[in-house]
Amino acid sequence: MTILFSLKNQVAIVTGAASGIGYAIARCLSEAGAKVAMVDRAEEIKSAAQNLGNSAQGYVFDLANVDALGELVEQIHHDFGRIDILVNNAGIGMLEAVGEVQLTSWNATMLINMTAPFFLAQHCSRFMKMQGFGRLINISSQASVIALNEHAAYCASKSGMASFTRVLAAELGPFGITANAISPTVVETELGKRYWHGDRAEQMKQKIPARRFATTDEIAGAVLYLSSKEAAMVNGENLVVDGGYSVI
Ligand SMILES: NC(=O)c1ccc[n+]([C@@H]2O[C@H](COP(=O)([O-])OP(=O)(O)OC[C@H]3O[C@@H](n4cnc5c(N)ncnc54)[C@H](O)[C@@H]3O)[C@@H](O)[C@H]2O)c1
Repeated sequence: MTILFSLKNQVAIVTGAASGIGYAIARCLSEAGAKVAMVDRAEEIKSAAQNLGNSAQGYVFDLANVDALGELVEQIHHDFGRIDILVNNAGIGMLEAVGEVQLTSWNATMLINMTAPFFLAQHCSRFMKMQGFGRLINISSQASVIALNEHAAYCASKSGMASFTRVLAAELGPFGITANAISPTVVETELGKRYWHGDRAEQMKQKIPARRFATTDEIAGAVLYLSSKEAAMVNGENLVVDGGYSVI
C-alpha cells in the first residue's frame, strides 16, 4: 500500500529544534521516517534529539555565526551522508514601537530571521543539486503578509524570507529542488506567548475566523506535506496557516 508523505531514507535539518514549533517539526519528520539533524543554540538540543531516538542528532550552534554555516552543513552531510530537507525554523522577535526601534535589535532580527536562513539554504542547495532532489522550507509568519503593531523588524525580516524563498524556487527548481515558506498565525510557544497573552491574545483570537491560535503540530503537518515527494509541484509558495486571519 502506498504511504503518503513518507520520508524514509531522507535526511532533514531543522533549526531551532530544541523547543516550540521546531521540536514539533523534528518529531513529525522523524515519525515520517527521516533522519533529523536538530540545530539550536540551546544545550537542550542534545536531550531533545535523544528523545527522538537514534535517527536524530543534536548540534549546538548559534545561527548568528553565519561564517560557520558552511562548516555546519559539511559536518551534517558527513554525519548523515546526504541532505534532502532544510527547515529554517529558528527565529527571534524583539518587539518595539516604530519610534523605539534600536539598530542593534533591527540587525539581530535580520541576521537570525533572514540572513542565516538564506545562507543555510545556499549551502544545503549545493548538496541538493548534486542529488537532484531537495526541499527548502522557511518558517516565516503571518507577519510576512500583514502588519502587526510593534513588529516592524520582525515583519520586514519575515517578508524578506518569503521573498528570497521565491528566488530560491525560481533558480533551483530545474535541479529538482522546491522552496516554500510557511506563515503561521500565533502559536502558543515561548515566543508566541511573550507578546500574545491576556486581553491582547483574546482580542486577536476574535479576529481569526477559526477563533483560536495554531498548534505546533498544525505547523509540523504543513512542513511534512511540503517535504514530501507528493508536493513536488508546489514551489515558491507562502503557505499561510492562520485560520483565515489574513483573508478578512
Ligand atoms: N510562536 C508564534 O506565534 C509564531 C508565529 C509565526 C511564526 N513563528 C516562527 O516560527 C519559528 C519558531 O518559533 P517558536 O514560537 O517555536 O519560537 P521559540 O522561541 O519557542 O523557539 C525558537 C527556538 O529557536 C532557537 N534559536 C533562537 N535563536 C537562535 C540562534 N541564533 N541560533 C540557534 N537557535 C536559535 C531557540 O533556542 C529556540 O529553541 C520562528 O521563526 C518564529 O518567528 C512563530
